[in-house]
Amino acid sequence: MPTRRLNVWLYGIHVARLSEPRPFRLRMDFTTDALDAFGEGSRVLSLSLPISREPVFDGKRRADNVVSAFLEGLLPEGNVRRHLATEANVPVTDTMGLLRKVGAECAGAIQILPDGVEPGDGRVRRLTAEEVTRLVADLPTYHLPDGTTPQASLAGIQDKVLLVLLPDGSWGWPEDGAPSTHIIKPEPLGGALQQLVQTEDWALRVAKHARIAAAESVLTRFDERDAIVVTRYDRTKSGLRLHQEDFCQALGLDPQAKYESTAEFQRYGSRLRRVARAAAARSRDPDAFRTALLEAVTLNVVIGNGDAHSKNYSLLIDRVGSVSLAPVYDAAPVMHLDARYKGTGHIINGKTNIDGIDVEDLANEGASWGMSMRRARTTTEESMERLHESVDRVPLPPGAEYVKARLKSLWLRRSWPAATPN
Ligand SMILES: Nc1ncnc2c1ncn2[C@@H]1O[C@H](COP(=O)(O)OP(=O)(O)OP(=O)(O)O)[C@@H](O)[C@H]1O
Ligand SMILES: [Mg+2]
Repeated sequence: MPTRRLNVWLYGIHVARLSEPRPFRLRMDFTTDALDAFGEGSRVLSLSLPISREPVFDGKRRADNVVSAFLEGLLPEGNVRRHLATEANVPVTDTMGLLRKVGAECAGAIQILPDGVEPGDGRVRRLTAEEVTRLVADLPTYHLPDGTTPQASLAGIQDKVLLVLLPDGSWGWPEDGAPSTHIIKPEPLGGALQQLVQTEDWALRVAKHARIAAAESVLTRFDERDAIVVTRYDRTKSGLRLHQEDFCQALGLDPQAKYESTAEFQRYGSRLRRVARAAAARSRDPDAFRTALLEAVTLNVVIGNGDAHSKNYSLLIDRVGSVSLAPVYDAAPVMHLDARYKGTGHIINGKTNIDGIDVEDLANEGASWGMSMRRARTTTEESMERLHESVDRVPLPPGAEYVKARLKSLWLRRSWPAATPN
């Protein structure tokens, strides 16, 4: 039986102890170091987990599992998670067991380590070009180089690897808490969503061209397989960690609740509104926060991203607890690749389908977060205009050119500003 205690570190400070007083029900005790460094009530770790003198427990109901919801948000889903569980020799449901294996390198500045282990620089094992090609091209089968095991974790369902780009341009495998610098996601195998990673790369470029902050990416071939190579925005060039959490974590929701349900909307109001209100209140410039969020939501609607759920938006939280919106990531015109995926992910002005959203819906949603109606409408209209122009400028990847006609036909049908025939 592995030890059921772990320590949570943030920016190299030991901020909390984790334990499991009952199977799968977790407890978090903040340390005096956390209270000294950040103060009681600080939300520097998560908007949903203020630093407190009292321990925080998972409750009896799933909805009250605040500690595990946050920690689950650090772990992958699906096949990647099964692979980690096999490597760690623990059940796939064992949050503590999985974190023990991969918690040294997660999203943001958090590190989860066993008792007696302190964060250090870790080690990077240089990989040969053949090792990297095999590793990426063979996913979902994991052909790890001899003697290596996964020691890093990110959320999400798609198979991916986390690597370190070394100064000479070769790739390294992060071990013992060494910070990874890039995420490599190969195109999914089989019939599922053709051109997904190619159009993700395109969508991130479209965003940047429209002056919406987005993760840096390039498409690279590994053997015969395309992969998107995304630069981590939560690592600085000198390898420091910047903290982030996704919208599920910020709201204390389990990753399984990543799509907002109508029942939740009716009970608590719009999820975007709840995040926007909590985050803007802790932002240096609340208006800029709301504008950035409305631009990101508009981007996802305009390009038809039918997978813009609460794990595909994140917040950056700095050392004094100031919050800003993370750059856009994991955006793709999913609805135009497969018409079944047309959900908005988050409910927008009460609507759940992208092809039912109009400018008023986006403006009303933004206004519900505390923006003036006028500012919300201008933000929506201007970002639509910039995005339409951007889609005309940034070429779609070969084989996905047909997406443009589908985008344009939806824009015309919805009478979105600056949508012109051709
Ligand atoms: N450029 C980036 N820098 C830092 N963190 C990132 C970046 N891109 C993604 N992440 C983090 O990694 C997680 C997984 O990435 P991503 O969303 O691309 O994976 P995915 O498996 O395609 O997700 P999904 O399950 O939504 O399809 C995100 O939820 C986010 O926390
Ligand atoms: Mg994702």
